[in-house]
Amino acid sequence: MPSPAAPPAPLADSPSAVAATGLRKSYGGKTVLDGIDLHIPAGSVFALLGPNGAGKTTAVKILSTLIAADGGRARVAGHDLAADPQSVRAAIGVTGQFSAVDGLITGEENMLLMADLHHLPRREGRRVTAELLERFDLVEAAKKPAQSYSGGMRRRLDIAMTLVGGPRVIFLDEPTTGLDPRSRHRTWQIVRELVKGGVTVFLTTQYLEEADELADRIAVLNGGRIVAEGTADELKRTVPGGHVRIRFTDPAAYRSAAAVLHGAGRDDEALALQLPSDGSQRELRSVLDWLDSAGIEADELTVHAPDLDDVFFALTSSTATPGAGPAAASHQPKEALR
Ligand SMILES: Nc1ncnc2c1ncn2[C@@H]1O[C@H](COP(=O)(O)OP(=O)(O)OP(=O)(O)O)[C@@H](O)[C@H]1O
Ligand SMILES: [Mg+2]
Repeated sequence: MPSPAAPPAPLADSPSAVAATGLRKSYGGKTVLDGIDLHIPAGSVFALLGPNGAGKTTAVKILSTLIAADGGRARVAGHDLAADPQSVRAAIGVTGQFSAVDGLITGEENMLLMADLHHLPRREGRRVTAELLERFDLVEAAKKPAQSYSGGMRRRLDIAMTLVGGPRVIFLDEPTTGLDPRSRHRTWQIVRELVKGGVTVFLTTQYLEEADELADRIAVLNGGRIVAEGTADELKRTVPGGHVRIRFTDPAAYRSAAAVLHGAGRDDEALALQLPSDGSQRELRSVLDWLDSAGIEADELTVHAPDLDDVFFALTSSTATPGAGPAAASHQPKEALR
């Protein structure tokens, strides 16, 4: 997919890096995207979440001009996707879910190949390659065949290759799947640096923690539609799951607390009670007052805010696809406590 060496499209006059309405896509008789709308401000990080097979990669492929939508319209980096795909291509970078790295040539050669595809002059190609290899900590490995790289190194090379053309909008399809925590944190750092430089990042991820860490806005895709959209905090507020957990070491104290607080969830094994709570100061004070007035001394009191896992399970379990099964099952122990 050669891209012309046109300078990145200015986004100053474009309020959004990605603006899509009613995107649709079916394969055979199966509807994958059933009319999705997206609005991603320039210079922000957007995360698309959804169970396996939800259509995340399909959305990325449409927005990055790799496949055509069956319906709907979109502007990416200020250019109409259908009318001017060449300009879209010149302004974006895509790191696919599956690596674009050629294992038989070296990391450096992979980078130079990308520079050629972007029609960078030879000197400029070498300069950009050297700078990116340095930035992605690949200088030592640069002259070795990419097939000898670890998964994390390969992933870093993949993202570095995406940046060769100086894209203004970057699509990262599951950028940290299979990476160890250190490599994952390093990738997050890279994303933050890119955004500081004004780049817009559209990422898909299976790691809710990743969306929580990075994304300004998150959308959850399920059953072909965006079923929720907002900041991580906004999404968390939409689901129940906040609670206060009161733990005892003395079984007698636990039993007497449980007898009085019959509304609380019980975990007899851990000697812990769980009260639904929004975690506000007022609610916490009333729990503490109640414990004091009943003369009960708890050993530990912890506040749990709902996390994105709660959001994900709440939004994607009702119409869960078979692929979502294990995830739904793993939620059971957590649910059982409530
Ligand atoms: N070329 C294709 N031909 C037929 N069906 C396809 C094709 N590409 C994708 N699909 C189907 O479209 C649906 C969505 O696939 P997609 O790859 O977009 O999901 P995803 O959300 O990226 O999943 P994952 O989390 O597993 O990467 C799946 O049911 C998939 O089988
Ligand atoms: Mg995918």
